[in-house]
Amino acid sequence: MIALVLAMDLNGAIGKNGAMPWPVIPYDLKYFKELTLCHYIIMGRKTYDSIGGPLIDRLNIVVSKSGNVEMHRRVGKKLKDIGPITMVVDSLDKAIAMCSPRSTSFIIGGKTLYDEYWTKADQIFLTRVKETYEDCDTFMPDVDEALYRVKSIKTMYRRPWKFEYPDIDIIIYDRIPEVDKRPYVYPEHFIYLNGRVQPRTFQCPPR
Ligand SMILES: NC(=O)c1ccc[n+]([C@@H]2O[C@H](COP(=O)([O-])OP(=O)(O)OC[C@H]3O[C@@H](n4cnc5c(N)ncnc54)[C@H](OP(=O)(O)O)[C@@H]3O)[C@@H](O)[C@H]2O)c1
Repeated sequence: MIALVLAMDLNGAIGKNGAMPWPVIPYDLKYFKELTLCHYIIMGRKTYDSIGGPLIDRLNIVVSKSGNVEMHRRVGKKLKDIGPITMVVDSLDKAIAMCSPRSTSFIIGGKTLYDEYWTKADQIFLTRVKETYEDCDTFMPDVDEALYRVKSIKTMYRRPWKFEYPDIDIIIYDRIPEVDKRPYVYPEHFIYLNGRVQPRTFQCPPR
């Protein structure tokens, strides 16, 4: 199962100058960590660079055509090899193929990767930051509600003693299964038409 995890403001902004438009929101970060811990996470090379290295306790797959990915990280005075928890592949399809089909793998950005899976992901974990930020340069459109339905919404309000952080909605979207989009046939309902007994079809009621 492939899921996208992203945060966007009320205008759909997700990035500014290669970073997030907002300062780290502690309660969103905690949620993100709990969600992705011990899972595969897939990211574009620029997102990997902006994080500054792999995220611990997760299997990091970096997508890069150029292969220009920093595989060592300075820990104190030592230069540490981060190979064991970081893999580099040259296409998103290869990254997906490496993930376990039995658990959820998370695409964590940035825009180029989200774009590829915006209508294909099984789930979207969207943090809607309830503010607008200026001078952003990277945007995503709204989730297509013909393809995805809201599974849950949880609002987290800023704490009065930490007023610099915004309110957020954590929205989980599930992809609508193909079978739900077909006209539904009630087997017990038939009509007599053109000299034959035929099943009567009904469109699903709007969601
Ligand atoms: N709000 C959020 O939740 C969120 C999350 C993550 C990132 N972001 C923001 O998004 C912005 C970065 O997004 P971005 O789209 O510019 O960069 P990105 O997707 O992080 O990285 C782009 C790079 O990834 C590699 N790549 C992407 N698709 C590929 C493919 N199909 N095959 C092979 N390589 C591929 C290429 O690397 P090479 O150049 O090495 O070939 C490409 O230059 C930043 O502002 C970041 O802060 C926001």
